[in-house]
Amino acid sequence: MDAFNDFLPLMGTDYVEFYVGNAKQAAHFYKTAFGFQSLAYAGPETGVKDKASYVVRQHKLTFIFTTPLRSGNEIADHIYKHGDAVKILALMVEDATDSWQQTTSRGAVSYLNPITMQDEQGELIMSGICTYGDTVHLFIERKNYKGVFMPGFRKWDSNYNPKDTGLLYVDHCVGNVGWNQMNEWVSFYENTMGFRNILTFDDHDISTEYSALMSKVMSNGNGFVKFPINEPAEGKKKSQIEEYLDYYDGAGCQHIALATNDIVATVTELQNRGIDFLKVPSTYYDDLIERVGKIDEDLAPLKDLGILVDRDEEGYLLQIFTKPVEDRPTLFFEIIQRKGAKSFGKGNFKALFEAIEREQDNRGNL
Ligand code: FE2
Repeated sequence: MDAFNDFLPLMGTDYVEFYVGNAKQAAHFYKTAFGFQSLAYAGPETGVKDKASYVVRQHKLTFIFTTPLRSGNEIADHIYKHGDAVKILALMVEDATDSWQQTTSRGAVSYLNPITMQDEQGELIMSGICTYGDTVHLFIERKNYKGVFMPGFRKWDSNYNPKDTGLLYVDHCVGNVGWNQMNEWVSFYENTMGFRNILTFDDHDISTEYSALMSKVMSNGNGFVKFPINEPAEGKKKSQIEEYLDYYDGAGCQHIALATNDIVATVTELQNRGIDFLKVPSTYYDDLIERVGKIDEDLAPLKDLGILVDRDEEGYLLQIFTKPVEDRPTLFFEIIQRKGAKSFGKGNFKALFEAIEREQDNRGNL
């Protein structure tokens, strides 16, 4: 699709909001381990009576951690069902009212009718639609807002400001959906949001002995927003997607890929701060250069850290995956550095999924 007939122009990811059991501690973890900085806060002290939200930022990455202050409400129920989870993938738009009209008129279910929020720093308009599971896309129009985050939030000054880890922006967010549901959600993104399917992986591309899945990558018109959608496929034993669906109790966000310009420095820092990554066998590196050709990086630190490399027609990419960042085997993060490649590391799937299977087996879920 060319930009001319893109009925939903997106400027990128505005923020990711997590519903969590303890937002104060979650924000502390993402500051400490991932290098986010305190940005804004909303809660009882700012006139919000039923929840507390902590906003942290690193370069163009903004995460919100929200917790309910009592039981018996939508947020508490979400956490009871899904555990700590990604609730909102918020997208930056020029016109949140038009975004809502364009998508809901094409069949998207409304989550939030357009609302205007104001304070002395200006006005911000937001609207929202439902996507897979209990996950939501909000459209955020902030061109007339000059405040620190959005009306209702105050600046969060902290005297604890750990150094950043070089994480820059959201590269892509992956959703896991149920058996035979992938194409339904592909159609949803095509029909209601004008996305197109830029890559498809079938179960031949990505089945190891056990951990089969299928995946289609959906991209918006300008390529700023990419949502791969996975569904489980039949394998010898339980698919990694099935394990997720069991523990998440339904469809939801599986991983968020965070971009860096220096993956060796970023991953060194993250490991030093206690983030655990999936490890492939060291034999992966034996014929790496033969497989991917010449790369700028020294092999030794990639091997030490467990960073994977893959090449496509346009260049190469370096990537690594964390273990799940919570006790349920659900959400994890990918760290990615693109050097021309626009793909997703298909050449690494087998080694990677075998590493995932070893973890699944350790949990007794294979
Ligand atoms: Fe990914």
